[in-house]
Amino acid sequence: MNKNHLWWQTGVVYQIYPRSYADTTASGMGDLRGIIEKLDYLSNTLGVDAIWLSPFYPSPMKDFGYDVADYCDVDPRFGTLADFDELLEESHQRGMQIIIDWVPNHSSDQHEWFIESRSSRDNPKRDWYVWRDPKFDEDGNRPPPNNWQSLFGGIAWEWDEATEQYYLHSFVKEQPDLNWRNPELKAAMFGTLRFWLDKGVDGFRVDVAHFIMKDPALRDNPPVKVEGEAFHRSHGRAYDSQIHIHDQGHPDLHPIYKEMRQMLDEYSATSPRVSVGEIHVFDFEKLVEFYGTPADGLEFHLPFNFSLLKMPWEAQAFREEVDAYEAALPAWATPTFVLGNHDEGRIATRYGEMQSRVAAMLLLTLRGTPTVYYGEELGMTDVIVPPEKRLDPYGLSVPENGRDRCRTPMQWNTTQNAGLSDADPDELWLPIAENAAEKNVAAEVDDPQSHLALYRELLKTRKASNALRFGAYRSLDSGSPDVYLYERKTADETMLIALNFSDQPQLLPEIHGKVLLSTHLDQTVPGKLRPHEGLLLKKA
Ligand code: NOJ
Repeated sequence: MNKNHLWWQTGVVYQIYPRSYADTTASGMGDLRGIIEKLDYLSNTLGVDAIWLSPFYPSPMKDFGYDVADYCDVDPRFGTLADFDELLEESHQRGMQIIIDWVPNHSSDQHEWFIESRSSRDNPKRDWYVWRDPKFDEDGNRPPPNNWQSLFGGIAWEWDEATEQYYLHSFVKEQPDLNWRNPELKAAMFGTLRFWLDKGVDGFRVDVAHFIMKDPALRDNPPVKVEGEAFHRSHGRAYDSQIHIHDQGHPDLHPIYKEMRQMLDEYSATSPRVSVGEIHVFDFEKLVEFYGTPADGLEFHLPFNFSLLKMPWEAQAFREEVDAYEAALPAWATPTFVLGNHDEGRIATRYGEMQSRVAAMLLLTLRGTPTVYYGEELGMTDVIVPPEKRLDPYGLSVPENGRDRCRTPMQWNTTQNAGLSDADPDELWLPIAENAAEKNVAAEVDDPQSHLALYRELLKTRKASNALRFGAYRSLDSGSPDVYLYERKTADETMLIALNFSDQPQLLPEIHGKVLLSTHLDQTVPGKLRPHEGLLLKKA
């Protein structure tokens, strides 16, 4: 690696949803030891640089681990702290970094802090969560303090009969929001970061990082008029009928992340650490604020950019979005694009099988640090989970948005349960995809034109190219509205990437260079793109 570039600036991150990766106890869900067994696949077969683990903390699993009951331990269903230490050690030995999820906006209602907090109004931890009196109307009713809604449906306030106050929960009611305005809570949460940093973890993916500070006066959110197609997409939910200016994104959150960054910088003296922010902010000027500034203090190394998830599959739309984002970034900032994760539909289902290959080339050749969600390297597709097996709380309130579909078991081979687990198939936490017999690691690893082969080639080519790892980005006019063309360039290397977003062949005589890779993984010539083909060329 170039000594001026750190692993998180040039590497590729792979996200593992631990429940669905590899099960060593025949429990029907994955565990940490299962991940240890797959490290050679990740480092040698695939060739990623870092792993982000979705939560493995003790949890009642009301939101599948994003309801944390102890920030400094491992849920017995996933293993032990010793297993985690081994996973970290084994990953480091293979040159792979470990990023863990950190969930600062809310804990589980079973966390001992909340149990104490709810025990009485004068408990020392009462203020560690957001408790408020009802409004009390003239009829003696006790409506909640304001109109805020839970993202998973219903109002964001839960009445506590014993202490006669409401507590805030931006997600399910078993996920009470932590009060970051309380200095003791802040110190305790920062202590949980130190716990993992002292162990040697390489970074954190910060869950809903933009939620942690709310309007101190708890003012009502103003309404937004949701009409036509937008209303259809909102499922008529009250959440979507508000502009979320008071229940999230309060500027007071920035000093917290500056302080967090100082802690990470302090630890980076031994080895570079990273913070990745889950920030659903689509105004790039605002998103960029989450990087902080060298003058006033840095914040996140990598605030996720989710904007491409909203784009229709059109070359111009993607080009405009990437260009706008690149233009908004300070010169020193590292971009980071997202095309899939445990909250979104699978890429091959959203865009189509062939399109998902073009999307892979896009993700792995744009500037910045890409994250690949497990199974995307196989072209896994969404699984329609039958109603009686649905588990995701979001999907229970809005079935179309159910996230079980993208969390199904990793497809390793054609043995029982696609190789995830030795459990009885009825015991699997989620069902296996019907196409698992064709789309699995064993079948794809020896197929020179498989999805997996494409990811391997892309990762290999990227690793070998300075232009792809840290070169400048510039979009170019391709001559066709259906082809997104851009270059990645260093002083001594220029790569051209031409992506055909359409189902029509494209003749582009202006495009010259040596073809290094086609998403079809066969011989091809520059200047000629087949339907749904992406080309990576090296300029002479
Ligand atoms: C974002 C996570 O990605 C999602 O899975 C979770 O449900 C919410 N945050 C709440 O923690």
